[in-house]
Amino acid sequence: MSLISPFPLPPFTPQTPLRLGIMASGSGSNFQAIAEAIKQGELNARIELVIYNNPDAKVAERAKQWGIPDQLFDHRTFSSREALDEAIAQALQQHGVEWVIMAGWMRRVTQRLISAFPERMLNIHPSLLPSFPGMRAVEQALAAGVKITGCSVHYVELAVDSGPIIMQAAVPVLPNDDVATLQARIQQQEHRIFPLAIALAAQTSDMTVPDSI
Ligand code: GRF
Repeated sequence: MSLISPFPLPPFTPQTPLRLGIMASGSGSNFQAIAEAIKQGELNARIELVIYNNPDAKVAERAKQWGIPDQLFDHRTFSSREALDEAIAQALQQHGVEWVIMAGWMRRVTQRLISAFPERMLNIHPSLLPSFPGMRAVEQALAAGVKITGCSVHYVELAVDSGPIIMQAAVPVLPNDDVATLQARIQQQEHRIFPLAIALAAQTSDMTVPDSI
């Protein structure tokens, strides 16, 4: 498949509403930002299902407030990663999800789930990939002493935080930053670019031409 360059930037509103499934493990502020963007008409999409893996994840509360179906898949109750991902893939497909959005999903995913949504799984990571993949990306950036970090939205591949990058935003590291202050500024940028990146990925996918043509 050949991907057309993502530039120029907006407008790239999809014609028909994208059917999104959100996967999250924690607070769900990125879920909230996507839901707000849809409400404001900035992203033509519907969130069909929110999947979470921690029983006390705040994202479930947020989903209920938005009237969006939510489903708990507690990873501790599954015999393997594949079994968990199989169940998640089935739930997403049953809800008609076309695009899977990992918005703070703190589990490694297997090929079982990735193959169910080829080139239609996105993740957000709080660094300028390929720098600082994996856990504690903000701590990693502070420890390395970089002066600019940020966030990245990328397609999901098997290796953690790998896959083609769709959009990034840069965030300066200020002299007195600690993890909390830097993370808060990175999250502001995450909330801004995630809806844009989803729309851009969908538009790019519409423009994707099979290599055989
Ligand atoms: C985000 O910072 C994201 O980059 C990381 O997990 C965090 C999730 O935050 N993968 P929230 O649950 O959306 O508030």
